Amino acid sequence: MPEPVAESALKDLPSLAKIPAFPPIVLRVFDLLTSEEVEVRKLVEILTADPAFSAQILRLANSPLFGFHSRIESLQHALVILGLRRVRSLAMTVATANYMQAALKIQELYRCWRHTLACALISEELARICGQPDDVAYTAGLLHDVGRLGLLVAHPAEYAQMLRNAAQGGLDTLELERKVFGADHCEVGRMLAERWNLPEDIRLAAGRHHDQPGGPVDDVTGVVYLGCQLADALGFWVTPPLRPRSLEEIRELLPEDARSRFHPDAEQLRDSVERRIRSHEVAAAPGASSHAPGEAQPEPAEPETERVEDLRETIVAATPARALWRDLTVVVVTGLIFSAVFILTFYLLNR
Ligand SMILES: [Fe+2]
Ligand SMILES: [Fe+2]
Repeated sequence: MPEPVAESALKDLPSLAKIPAFPPIVLRVFDLLTSEEVEVRKLVEILTADPAFSAQILRLANSPLFGFHSRIESLQHALVILGLRRVRSLAMTVATANYMQAALKIQELYRCWRHTLACALISEELARICGQPDDVAYTAGLLHDVGRLGLLVAHPAEYAQMLRNAAQGGLDTLELERKVFGADHCEVGRMLAERWNLPEDIRLAAGRHHDQPGGPVDDVTGVVYLGCQLADALGFWVTPPLRPRSLEEIRELLPEDARSRFHPDAEQLRDSVERRIRSHEVAAAPGASSHAPGEAQPEPAEPETERVEDLRETIVAATPARALWRDLTVVVVTGLIFSAVFILTFYLLNR
C-alpha cells in the first residue's frame, strides 16, 4: 500500500485546485452550531437568506419521510415541529445534494449520492444503539465521502471513468484514486474538512472512515465506518465491494450491549433505506428533479405515510425476549389501571 500523501504535498496537487468550496451557508450553520448555545433566530436568519435553499428544506420537511398531515409553512414552524437538530440535518442534506447536483446526471456519480445518503441514514440509527449522538453521526455520515464529492464535482468525467475501471477490473478504488488524482478520497476529505473548518467529528470521519476500528466502536468515526460498510453490504455501494461485510461481522464491531439490539432483516432494511433515499431526492433536489440517470422520475406525490422512526425498527427488531417483556408490561400496567378504577368506584359507592 502506498505511503499517505504528505499534508503539504496534498495542498499543491493540481487535481485538487479545481475543487469548489462547499456552500458558504453550510459553513455558517456549522459555525453557529459549534457554539455553546444555538440561537434559533440566528439559524432561521441564515437559512432564509437563501429563499431557494429554505424552500428545499421545507419541501423535505413536508415529504412523506415525516408523515405530518398538516403542512409546515415556514422554517420557524419546522423548528418547532421537527426540532433544531432535525432541521440542521435537513439543511446539510439539501446543501450536499446541491453541491453535487450537476454530477448526479452521470450514473456512476449518482451512485455516490445514494451511498452517501444511505451511510448517513444508517449511521444515525446505529449511533442510537451505540450511545453516540445521532445527529452528529448523520452529518458525519453525509460528509464522510466529502473528499470523493470534491473530486467528482471537480472532475466528473474522469472520476466516473475511474469508477468504471475499478468496477470492471475489480480494483481498489482508493488505490486508483491515488494513481489518477494523486491522493485518495480520505486524504482529500481530511484536507477539505480542515480547509473548510468543519467540526472535528467530520474531519475524523472524512479521513478515517475506511480504517477498521481495532475493537468495538466507541466514537462517531467508528459508527460511520460501520454505516459505510453496512450501506455497501445492502447494495448501496459506489463500486461493488471487493469483500462485502456480513451482518454478523458488523454486529461483532458494535459495543457489547448494542449487539443484542442489532437484528436487522437485510431485505427489510434495504427497502426501508431505499424508500428514504427516494423521498429525500424527490424533496431535496433543486426543482425536485433529481433521479437516477436514465430512469423515470419517481412519483413525488405518492401518499406514502411511512415515518422516519420505521428505519429504527428495521435495525432494532424486537427479539422474542424483548417482545415478551413489552407485552407483559402492557398487561401489568393495564391490570393496575383497572384495579385502581375498581377500588375507587367501590370506595365511592360504599362511603
Ligand atoms: Fe469512502
Ligand atoms: Fe462510504
